[in-house]
Amino acid sequence: MSLSYAFDPGFRAIPGSSSPLELREMIQNPFRFLEERYLKHGAIFRSSVAYPCVWMIGPEANRTIMVTERDKFSYEGGYGKLAFAKLFPKNILLMDGETHAKTRAILEPAVSRLGLEESIGPVQDIWNRHAETLAGRAPEDVYVVAQKATYEVSARVLAGLRDSDEIEELRPYFEAVIAGAMAHTQLRFPGGTLDKAMKARDVLYARLMPYVKRARGASERFGVLGLLTEYRDANGRPLPDEEVLHQVLLLYWAGYDTTASAGSWVIHHLAHQAEWQRRLREEVFEVLGDEPYQLTGSSKLRQVSWFLREIERCGPSLFMFPRAASADFEFQGYRVPAGTPVFYSPWMSHRCPESFPHPHTFDPGRWDPALGNEQAKGKYMVGFGGGPRLCLGRSFAQMQLRIMVTTLVRRYHIEPDATTEFHIMGLPVHHPVDSRVRFRELLDHQRPQRRAPEQDKGLAAAPPS
Ligand code: HEM
Repeated sequence: MSLSYAFDPGFRAIPGSSSPLELREMIQNPFRFLEERYLKHGAIFRSSVAYPCVWMIGPEANRTIMVTERDKFSYEGGYGKLAFAKLFPKNILLMDGETHAKTRAILEPAVSRLGLEESIGPVQDIWNRHAETLAGRAPEDVYVVAQKATYEVSARVLAGLRDSDEIEELRPYFEAVIAGAMAHTQLRFPGGTLDKAMKARDVLYARLMPYVKRARGASERFGVLGLLTEYRDANGRPLPDEEVLHQVLLLYWAGYDTTASAGSWVIHHLAHQAEWQRRLREEVFEVLGDEPYQLTGSSKLRQVSWFLREIERCGPSLFMFPRAASADFEFQGYRVPAGTPVFYSPWMSHRCPESFPHPHTFDPGRWDPALGNEQAKGKYMVGFGGGPRLCLGRSFAQMQLRIMVTTLVRRYHIEPDATTEFHIMGLPVHHPVDSRVRFRELLDHQRPQRRAPEQDKGLAAAPPS
């Protein structure tokens, strides 16, 4: 790709470097890579991630990409370069304009029902069962704990699977699809990551097809897979079987490892922030007692909301998201021509010191609305994207994370394992690695007491984040 945009007469040259060495630096340490360049160049700079590109960082950049100039940023041009475009060639993240609007209208009714009361029970059951297995075990890797339960949630609630043996049997195929979607290249080598993923995808299509057929004739339908068979277009036509499967696998891809990554940060920070763990436990016992999590009254879990907001800020699941300029645009006095690959980064945007004072400090208290500060309004947050293409599964993911927190803190005291050292992986999915924690069952005297209803008046209702 030409670098002419960097030297366009009449416009300032976009700062940065398009040297191929940039990629090496980014892979070595994506956090340092972005932060150094943002602090040096500001909200827009050039780089090269296998191909020359432009990064846009911070609230104004995100607003430009997601809201004000969104028609000039193509998803197809951005995601189309990634391996996962080969795996899911007709997926919503590869679509722009009218085609996207139609697909979103198909998915939205099914996915939005997931955040509702009816899926809380199944998700709570899964977390109860997984929590049960943690008692008295050697220190557990937080990512593995989060992945196990989140996989089961995705398999049951998204793919509509019912049989535990089958869920376990299919896990390697689902995992291979995730790995292949994140492969470095779109080239398919026999035995390579993408090749394995495409074969695993075809196995999953074959195994899930009978579920689609059965759902069509059934009175009770399970999971998003079942809900998608209810769809009818303006002429009363249903979604073809293949498309139902295609959409289910895409939602599984979009929702599984993202939620597992966020969940791993939840467990990690609960273990490392003893004071917040104590505060959340107290609040959860006060609000829920021993009752399961439910939507009604959940707005009283105010500190849980702040904690999860801070997880979204510090631990966004994916480090960067791609677009390509579909028309020339200007940003802060720089001209970016059509065709330029553009990335935004939740991780860096959430660490801009202008948006969040002490950006590297994990501090759920910053979300307390009583502080009256700008950051507490959440307008600088893009962990779930933004604008009309905000993450479709946000409510469902947030509900899962709330169930996870409320289940774990009521049952366990969670401690970091001092004998292991953890590090943080930024790419392809952002999560702690080798962060091990011990789950110690709470003794009766360690359980905070629920307050009487008349004492409850101090807890003002606030919407969940
Ligand atoms: C903590 C968990 C999750 C995180 C952090 C997350 C994050 C995101 C982000 C940042 C985007 C915007 C991508 C972009 O701007 O290019 C997005 C889009 C999307 N997400 Fe999520 N997601 C999560 C869970 C889920 C779940 C559970 C589902 C499905 C059940 C889901 C389905 C989608 C879909 C379909 C889109 C594309 C929407 C569109 O383009 O119209 N996500 N997600």
